[in-house]
Amino acid sequence: MFKKIIQYALPALLLFVFGVVHADDSLFSTNLYAKFHAGSCTICHDFFEKDKNGLTFTTHKKRRDTNRCITCHKTGVTGFEHSADWFALPGLYTSDMDAKTTCEKIMEAMNAAFKSKPLLAKEMEDHLLADPRVLWGIEGATPNSGNLPRKKKETDMVKGGMDEWKEQVMAWIEGGMKCE
Ligand code: HEC
Ligand code: HEC
Repeated sequence: MFKKIIQYALPALLLFVFGVVHADDSLFSTNLYAKFHAGSCTICHDFFEKDKNGLTFTTHKKRRDTNRCITCHKTGVTGFEHSADWFALPGLYTSDMDAKTTCEKIMEAMNAAFKSKPLLAKEMEDHLLADPRVLWGIEGATPNSGNLPRKKKETDMVKGGMDEWKEQVMAWIEGGMKCE
């Protein structure tokens, strides 16, 4: 009797526990949601949002000339190959959104409804693994990640480094980019 329990019940229990602990990496909410909401991503996405105290209404009131961003956020600071890639836009996902809305907003901004899955997957991969602004927001991804003018530094970065980011992004993309 006891032997039977060991033989059948124990493996079943282990399988169950593993299944519960092992979350589904193909869902946006599992790993990516928290990372997309690090300050190093959302402070810039909130830049033009008045109800979120976007920087253009606070510290950047006198720095909001779009042609002058790079006089301060220059290549020596950001490390960007093309310094002009440091800019902000309204209409991106913002700090107040839950996982599903964040993901749907990204899809909308990328015109996902008009693209085949393979095209969207390719563009998503390019953006998330190579966009200079995204890399700037991931801790340790480049020597200049997190660096701001006047020797300041953003501290609320995407944690876990580039390897973990890549692994989690690819699990989500290859899992079909589910917005749950
Ligand atoms: C310097 C400002 C800035 C930073 C920092 C930044 N972004 Fe963005 N993000 C933008 C801008 C501007 C666009 C629009 C780009 C375009 O249309 O060419 C964008 C677009 C995106 C998009 C595609 C569409 C959308 O609505 O969101 C994703 C996904 C994204 N960013 C994710 C991130 C993540 C993740 C981080 C942090 C690791 C991050 N961004 C950091 C400015 C920024
Ligand atoms: C006169 C210099 C100057 C100009 C011009 C300037 N910035 Fe900044 N920016 C700074 C400094 C300094 C900081 C660090 C925070 C602070 O002290 O305000 C900063 C911080 C930021 C941050 C915060 C990033 C984070 O994650 O903490 C964003 C986003 C940003 N700037 C975007 C812009 C954009 C977009 C423009 C152009 C429309 C711009 N900045 C123009 C000096 C400047």
